[in-house]
Amino acid sequence: MQLLAASQCFLQSQTMNCSTCHDPHVSERTDMQTFSTRCMTCHQPDGPQFCKHRGKPSAVLQQNCVDCHMPALPSGAITLLANGEQSPTPDSVRTHLIAVYADMVKRMK
Ligand code: HEC
Ligand code: HEC
Ligand code: HEC
Repeated sequence: MQLLAASQCFLQSQTMNCSTCHDPHVSERTDMQTFSTRCMTCHQPDGPQFCKHRGKPSAVLQQNCVDCHMPALPSGAITLLANGEQSPTPDSVRTHLIAVYADMVKRMK
C-alpha cells in the first residue's frame, strides 16, 4: 500500500485503489496483457499520457507495461528464513512503486 501510495499514478489520479487493477474474484496471475489493459484505462495509446519509451513499437509496449514499470524486486518487508540459513532472504515481489526502471529496460532488450 505504501509503495503504491508513493506512485505518481496514485498521487495524481486520486482515484486509484487495489481494485483498479485486481479483481479479487478471478485469478489473473501472470496475465500481463490483462494487467496492461488496466494501465491503459488511464494511459490510452492515443493519449498524451501514453508510454514515452521510443525503443519499441506501441503494439509491443501495449502487451506488457508491467515488466518494465513494476518489476519483481527483492521485498524490504517480506523475507524468508530457509532451513539451515543464518539470515533471511528477501522474497521477490512485484514492486507497487510504479515508475521508470531504466535497468529493467536494458535487461529486456
Ligand atoms: C487511475 C489512472 C491510472 C492507472 C490505472 C495507471 N496510471 Fe500510471 N499514472 C497516472 C497518472 C495520472 C500519472 C501522472 C501523470 C503522468 O505522468 O502521465 C501516472 C504516471 C505514470 C508513470 C510515470 C511515473 C513517474 O514517476 O513519473 C508511469 C511509468 C506509469 N504511470 C505507468 C503505469 C502503469 C505501468 C500502469 C499499470 C500497471 C499505470 N500507470 C496505471 C494514472 C494512472
Ligand atoms: C496499477 C495496477 C495495480 C494496483 C493499483 C495494485 N496492483 Fe497489485 N499487482 C499488480 C500487478 C501487475 C501484479 C503482478 C501480477 C503477476 O505477477 O501475476 C500485482 C501483484 C500483486 C500481489 C502479488 C505480489 C507477488 O509478486 O507475488 C499482491 C499481493 C498485490 N498485487 C496486492 C495489491 C494490493 C493490496 C493493492 C492495493 C493496495 C494492489 N495490489 C494494487 C498491479 C496492481
Ligand atoms: C520495454 C519497456 C517498457 C514497456 C513495455 C513500457 N514502458 Fe513505459 N516507459 C519505458 C521507459 C524506458 C520510459 C522512459 C522513456 C523516456 O523518458 O525516454 C517509459 C515512460 C513511460 C511513461 C512516462 C514517464 C514519465 O517520466 O513521464 C509512462 C506514463 C509509461 N511509460 C507508461 C507505460 C504504459 C502504460 C505501458 C504499457 C501500455 C508502458 N509504459 C510500457 C519503458 C517501457
